[in-house]
Amino acid sequence: MPEKRVALVVGAASGIGAATARRLARDGFRLAVADRDQAALAGVATETGACAFPVDIADEASVTTLFDAVEAALGPVAVLVNTAAISPMKPGGGMLGMADTSSDVIRRVMDINVLGALWLSREYSLRADRVERGDGRVVLLSSSAARLGGMRSAVVYSTSKGAIQSLVKGLARELAPRAITVNCVAPGLVDTPMLRAGLDPAQDEEANKAVPLGRIGTADEMANAIAWLVSDQAAYMTGATLDVNGGYHML
Ligand SMILES: NC(=O)c1ccc[n+]([C@@H]2O[C@H](COP(=O)([O-])OP(=O)(O)OC[C@H]3O[C@@H](n4cnc5c(N)ncnc54)[C@H](O)[C@@H]3O)[C@@H](O)[C@H]2O)c1
Repeated sequence: MPEKRVALVVGAASGIGAATARRLARDGFRLAVADRDQAALAGVATETGACAFPVDIADEASVTTLFDAVEAALGPVAVLVNTAAISPMKPGGGMLGMADTSSDVIRRVMDINVLGALWLSREYSLRADRVERGDGRVVLLSSSAARLGGMRSAVVYSTSKGAIQSLVKGLARELAPRAITVNCVAPGLVDTPMLRAGLDPAQDEEANKAVPLGRIGTADEMANAIAWLVSDQAAYMTGATLDVNGGYHML
């Protein structure tokens, strides 16, 4: 059946978000892509034929403006995917220890990774009655760091990703009467600019050994999981965290 739903992918300028935009475009969605990096986003929009919108998800008003603009251009957002986040590193690279994490960095990570996801979730919820029954999907991005502790990432990052797993459970319960599902994907190590900020290709052999399937994952593999979650096939899955990590973390 041809896809009639409007999908909004936030964080679509890079990595997993860009791969998700390419995949959802191939799946025939009426696609909107958003990011704060407008130059990179323009490339993804050209490639996918999506409508591009600027957003800073740390800014509540910017999130409202985004939903208004997408709705005016394409119609109500049925499918929301948020991949936008940051993972702070030590200046010059390397894992940022708790004692060295400044108040500004803690606030910035929480503003983007947690409050950003909440502003998007609230804006989606406010407009949920415009989504046709059975069409609605929300997919957020957690991380294996949420349950493993960040072996390569800062404590503030794992904290923010743990919050996403709680967020999806609460929102899933609230939106279930409307048959809207809410889930998150928890990637392990995925070859994107975010991972590469802390992992030199010279360390790949060691990183690969830490993964039972023997390799770092790809952004396309994350997009496959997201595409499934937003499809009809996943209509009975909600409030869940889908671990897509090559066995890096098993629970
Ligand atoms: N790459 C990995 O190994 C990995 C592992 C676990 C979880 N994740 C999660 O997957 C998601 C995608 O990560 P990625 O590796 O593709 O990262 P990435 O850095 O390649 O892409 C993140 C995108 O988010 C955008 N962004 C950041 N802050 C924003 C803001 N305030 N407003 C709007 N856009 C903003 C960036 O411009 C960028 O385009 C993130 O939530 C990340 O935490 C990634």
